[in-house]
Amino acid sequence: MTEKKLQISQLLAKDFDKLLIYLSNLSLATRSRFAPHRFDLVAIEQFYLPENNNIGYIITDIETQAIIAYSIIKLGYVLKDKKRFEENGIQLYPQTDCTFAPSVADAWQSKGLGKMMFDFLKIELQKQSLRRIFLWGGVQATNETAINYYLKNSFEKIGSFEKNGIDNFDMIMHL
Ligand SMILES: CC(C)(COP(=O)(O)OP(=O)(O)OC[C@H]1O[C@@H](n2cnc3c(N)ncnc32)[C@H](O)[C@@H]1OP(=O)(O)O)[C@@H](O)C(=O)NCCC(=O)NCCS
Repeated sequence: MTEKKLQISQLLAKDFDKLLIYLSNLSLATRSRFAPHRFDLVAIEQFYLPENNNIGYIITDIETQAIIAYSIIKLGYVLKDKKRFEENGIQLYPQTDCTFAPSVADAWQSKGLGKMMFDFLKIELQKQSLRRIFLWGGVQATNETAINYYLKNSFEKIGSFEKNGIDNFDMIMHL
């Protein structure tokens, strides 16, 4: 991994056009596993309104200036997840909990970018005094790559649920 040629940064409004290109190029398989918002400019602008408490992070290939990985951190929880956690008796700490959704461009998957992003986020989130990270909408039980990725990064399973006939796991990581 030639990390010197890659740059991690917080997503800014000036990056939205590039983000749209990144999202448009994702394969159907990746889209079926990463869908925290619609893939159009209006949806992205709305998603990043300050009141929604979403922060985007991107990895850019310095040579091509293309976005090659995109993760989201929401301060607090996604409403549907929150309801499920409450039903399952999970104690919530909205001031110090956050929610994570990662993605890597198909051609760059399994090359260490997910790890690079998470190592960066761990430090960022600790600086913001956050203590726990939940998964955004859980992870599909068939998504072996992502489950391995989360386990490797110290997430643990805390429950399971079914959505549209598909089994999913809720996972959490303590910072
Ligand atoms: C899940 C995802 C973010 C992981 O990022 P990545 O850059 O591909 O993963 P990394 O190269 O950093 O690998 C980290 C760990 O993930 C696991 N992993 C990565 N690729 C894997 C593969 N092809 N098969 C099995 N495990 C894999 C391994 O445990 C790996 O650690 P190791 O290299 O020491 O064995 C990325 O693959 C992705 O975007 N997938 C599609 C979208 C998605 O599923 N998002 C999550 C929704 S819940």
